[in-house]
Amino acid sequence: MKKTTDVLILGSGIAGLTLAIKTALADTSLKVTLITKTEQEESNTRYAQGGVAAVWNKDKDNHQKHIEDTLDAGDGLCNEKIVEIVVKEGPDRVREIIDWGTRFDKNKSKIDYDLGKEGGHSENRILHFKDLTGWEIQRALMAKANELPNVEVYEHYFALDLLTQHHLGYNITRATPNIKCFGAYVLDKKDGDIITFLSKITVVATGGAGQIYKNTTNPVIATGDGIAMTYRAKGRIESMEFVQFHPTALFNPAGENPVFLVSEAVRGYGAILRDNSGEEFMHRYDKRKSLAPRDIVARAIDNEMKINGSEHLYLDCTHLDKEGFYAHFPTIHDKCMSIGINPKKDYIPVVPACHYLCGGIQVDAFGRSSIDGLYACGESTYTGLHGANRLASNSLLEAMVFAHRIHDDIINNIDKYHIENRIPNWNTIGTTEPKEMVLITQSSKELKEIMSSYVGIVRSNVRLKRAFDRLKLLYDETEQLYRSTIISPQLCELRNLITIGYLVTYSASMRRESRGLHFTTDYPDKFDFIDHTIL
Ligand code: FAD
Ligand code: SIN
Repeated sequence: MKKTTDVLILGSGIAGLTLAIKTALADTSLKVTLITKTEQEESNTRYAQGGVAAVWNKDKDNHQKHIEDTLDAGDGLCNEKIVEIVVKEGPDRVREIIDWGTRFDKNKSKIDYDLGKEGGHSENRILHFKDLTGWEIQRALMAKANELPNVEVYEHYFALDLLTQHHLGYNITRATPNIKCFGAYVLDKKDGDIITFLSKITVVATGGAGQIYKNTTNPVIATGDGIAMTYRAKGRIESMEFVQFHPTALFNPAGENPVFLVSEAVRGYGAILRDNSGEEFMHRYDKRKSLAPRDIVARAIDNEMKINGSEHLYLDCTHLDKEGFYAHFPTIHDKCMSIGINPKKDYIPVVPACHYLCGGIQVDAFGRSSIDGLYACGESTYTGLHGANRLASNSLLEAMVFAHRIHDDIINNIDKYHIENRIPNWNTIGTTEPKEMVLITQSSKELKEIMSSYVGIVRSNVRLKRAFDRLKLLYDETEQLYRSTIISPQLCELRNLITIGYLVTYSASMRRESRGLHFTTDYPDKFDFIDHTIL
């Protein structure tokens, strides 16, 4: 079956929804189709806690300070032009989502916003809604998108692959100039049909890939599908070695997927990291102590845990104002209580967990990928904002700024694109129903094990080589399964996760230095010569 649309957006997080709203409002004659693989509200966006970083209080803060904090966290690899764009355009984008109904907490004056602080920020500049900022943004954007008649949302539709000249029979390689995107093959999960969605413009907004690791704050939808699809379509992918581990996920002995996040905003509110004997230790690693940028704090915790042989360290909130803590962090409080920890009296056990993918689909200042007609927005991209390490609360901001710039570019250029009707429908000949789901679940476990053991916070040549060899085996087995069985979301996600695992491992092995989120014991120092890993 074929469906046609003007703009096809893959993903319903902050990136996909903001772009859908802006494009649909800017030209009401355009048909905007948004597809999402589970319910509309399920996304990384929905779980964001800390908030959105933006220069708001001009008496104390200014663009230059936010730019410098972002560059400092990014450890020499940020694109300064992009950092300036995002920091300067960000506050207008925040105002826009406030106009669409998003609420942020006000301070005692009830007029000004209550601006929080997080690691690496020199000023209080985080707008938040309690510890549920992402949920509030997701709610407001969905309400806005769903009231627009020219936005059509398909839930439980799983994007399988991007359509290019390859599907017209041409041999496409990474060196082919002028690769074009004509839409995507999409699986309707409810009845199993594969639909050929033909579009003038396609946008990947499928988010991150935290599920390549055992411990992650990312929900199960975060399987890197859009990045893997773009890589298969021979688009350029950049800086995949920079995987951000959040220093403070809640340690729950019962095990959870995803693990629950204890927001950095809690440290911004005054909480202190302590080792197993209750001593502070962060002063030994950075003068900003518990509020140093994430790469530094996560590595410090990892190191302390290795020295002590412990499974977690502690976050101490016991000295904080009790009412204030509950008012700011009700969800974190309730979650801790649910596993028998009272943050008012007990130290919270915390452990680093994979949180954010800094690398992704290479895009320019208007979100254009290396494939013509294909844009990308949000966590699935590498824009140059984050460099080697993302500054806390800069990603929601990045998604909004780029959604705006992409919508502008689409409106100005969509007339140059056409619907490519010659694309054939998906071919299922020679495939059979999958008989053993255990093959998929077991391979998925193995992948997480490999990535967590060999491509985690601390890396080395030997570990990366081992990861490669194991990944190769998994890749071969999974491709064999993919070629011979009827498509299922589980199999496609596994295939995408293996691709992401490979891209992270390969990029890590290319970087023969330690910088930002990439630390290797074989090359512990930074080189003077700085370059990006592009695949
Ligand atoms: P997502 O919000 O992840 O949305 C991706 C969408 O794509 C989902 O709807 C998904 O279902 C869909 N999708 C994926 N694959 C497919 C497919 N094959 N077919 C169809 N649909 C597909 N950042 C901040 O700036 N501030 C914070 O305070 C903050 N806190 C965070 C807390 C947590 C626990 C987590 C996990 C992240 C946090 N982040 C925060 C990061 C931030 O939330 C994400 O980077 C951001 O929300 C990503 O938005 P996105 O729209 O790019 O992707
Ligand atoms: C947090 O609340 O600690 C997460 C913020 C972020 O990832 O930007």
